[in-house]
Amino acid sequence: MDKFYTTTAIDYVNGAPHIGHAYEKILTDIITRHYSQRTDNAFMLTGVDEHGIKIQKTSASLGITPKEFCDINTQKFIDAWKLLDINYSRFIRTTDEQHKKAVQKIFDKLLKQGDIYKHAYKGLYCSGCEAFLSEKDLDENGLCPVHKKKPEVVEEENYFFKLTKYKDAIIKHINQNPDFIIPSFRVKEVLNQLENIEDISVSRAKKNVSWGIDVLGDDEQVIYVWIDALSNYITALGYNCEENSDDFRKYWSADVQVIGKDILKFHSIYWPAILMALNLPLPKHILAHGWITIDETKMSKSLGNVVSPEGIMKSFNLDIADPLRYYMASAAPLGKDGNYSDDDFKEKVNAHLANSMGNLLNRTLSMLDKYFDGVIKEEFINTPVLFEDAKKTIESVKHHFNFFEIQEAASEIIELVDKTNKFVTNSAPWALAKEGKMKECGEVLYAVLEVMCVIASLIYPYCPNIAKRMADELKYDITLKLDDIKLNNIKTGKLISKEDIKPVFLRLDSELADKAKKN
Ligand code: ME8
Ligand code: MG
Repeated sequence: MDKFYTTTAIDYVNGAPHIGHAYEKILTDIITRHYSQRTDNAFMLTGVDEHGIKIQKTSASLGITPKEFCDINTQKFIDAWKLLDINYSRFIRTTDEQHKKAVQKIFDKLLKQGDIYKHAYKGLYCSGCEAFLSEKDLDENGLCPVHKKKPEVVEEENYFFKLTKYKDAIIKHINQNPDFIIPSFRVKEVLNQLENIEDISVSRAKKNVSWGIDVLGDDEQVIYVWIDALSNYITALGYNCEENSDDFRKYWSADVQVIGKDILKFHSIYWPAILMALNLPLPKHILAHGWITIDETKMSKSLGNVVSPEGIMKSFNLDIADPLRYYMASAAPLGKDGNYSDDDFKEKVNAHLANSMGNLLNRTLSMLDKYFDGVIKEEFINTPVLFEDAKKTIESVKHHFNFFEIQEAASEIIELVDKTNKFVTNSAPWALAKEGKMKECGEVLYAVLEVMCVIASLIYPYCPNIAKRMADELKYDITLKLDDIKLNNIKTGKLISKEDIKPVFLRLDSELADKAKKN
C-alpha cells in the first residue's frame, strides 16, 4: 500500500458544527490515522460547502454578504476540528479561487463534449436538500420527507447533465464491485434509485440563485451546488482538467469517501457519473455512515436539542478530545445509526479508558516502581501467552479496518485490555512479590508493559493524546508502523521514576461536570 486517500462530506455552513458533523470527521480521522500506521502517504480531505440558495437567503436576512457569512461560520468548523484533533491534510472551501476555476472548467468540458445540454424545466426545489425533488419523493402532505418543508416550484431554463447515459455503466460497476458501497445493506436502495433516474439539472438561473459559481460564457446561470460540491474531492488535489497536479496523480482515486446515509444518492450515482464523464477512475469505497441522535431523538433547531462537540468538551471540562472521539467511534456498528447521551458517554469512557486501560498502565508502572524502583531487569524478559493475543489483536484490528469497521475494531482493543487485566488478576504480581518470587513478579509486569505498547499503537487513531501519554511513560515509539511492531519494546534498565507515573486519563468527574453545566 503506497497511499491512502480519505474524504469527508463538506458541510453546509448555515450554522455551527454539531455532533453529527463531528461524528463523520472523527470516523474519517480515525480511518486516516489507522492507515497512517500502514502507509507513509495517508491523506485526508475535509472542508465546507459554501454556495447555494440557503446561504444566500440566510446571509441576506442578516444584512451581510454571503461571503462574510461563510467566513464567520467556516471558522467555526475549522475551530471545532482543531478542538477534536482532526488531523486533516487539506481543508477546502468551495469559495477558494482554485476550486471555482476548476469547477468552471469541468462544467465547460462536459458541455463541450455533449454531456451537458440546455433545457427548459419546471420542478420542485427543496432548499434544505439543495435538490430538485420529484412528486413521488414527497410525503403524503406534499412536503420534503427530510426537511418537512414544501418545495418551491421553479420554472427555469437550466443546463442538464446526461445522467441517463451513465446509468448502465454505474449499475454494472456496483454489481461488479460489491464493496463499492459500504455497508452492503445499502446497495439495494441505490440500485432501486438507479432504475428511475433522469437527467439532472446542473445549473440555476442567476436571477433566482446568485450565490454560486458562474457558468463560463453564460452570465445568466450559476453551477448547481452539488456539481460544485462533489468536484471538491478532485479539485482539492489540484485537478483542473488540463495540467493536473502531482497530488492529484498521486492520490486519486479516493480509497474511501465517508458520507452520511442521506447523501448516498449523490455520491453513488451522480458522482460516479461525473467521474465517468471526465474519464477518471471511481473511488474504491463510498462509506455511508448512519445518523447520530441525541437521547434517541433526532437533532433539530426547533427541538433545541442540537449538541455541539464544543459544548460536550466544556460541560465535562475535557482538556483532550480523546474520550469524545472514542465514544463517537464506538457509537454505532458500521453504517448503523448511533446515539449520544451524557450519561452513556460518561459511563463508557470511564469504564473503558479510565478504569480498564488507564488504570492498567498506572498500577503496573506503580508496582514496577514499588518492587523494582522502576527498573526492568534482564531476567524479566520472557514471551508469555499474552503476546499471542496481542499479535492476534493487531491482525484483527487491521482486518476490521479493511472493511472500515471502526466500532468493531475498538471492541477488539478493549478486549485485549480486558484480557491483560485478567492476566494481572490471575498472576497476582503483588502476591508474588510478597512471597519473594521477584523474577516471576517482574515477568508479569514486563509482559503487561509490552502489551501496553501494542495497545498504545492500536488505540492511537481513536485517542491520539492518551496514546502519546502512554507511549511517553513506556518510552515507546508511537510512530511505529503496525507491521513493524515487535514485542520487544520495553528496554532493560530504568523505565520510569515515581514522579513520572501519572494517570493517562482521569475519570470524568460527574460532580465537576454537573457544576460546569450549571455555570
Ligand atoms: O449534505 N448524524 O452538508 P450537510 C450523522 N454539503 N451525520 C450527520 C448528521 C447527524 N445527525 N447530520 C448531518 C451536505 N450529518 C452537503 C454535502 S458533499 C460533496 C456535500 C452529515 O452539512 C451528513 O450526512 O447537510 C453529511 O455527510 C455531513 O454531515 C454534512 O451534511
Ligand atoms: Mg444535510
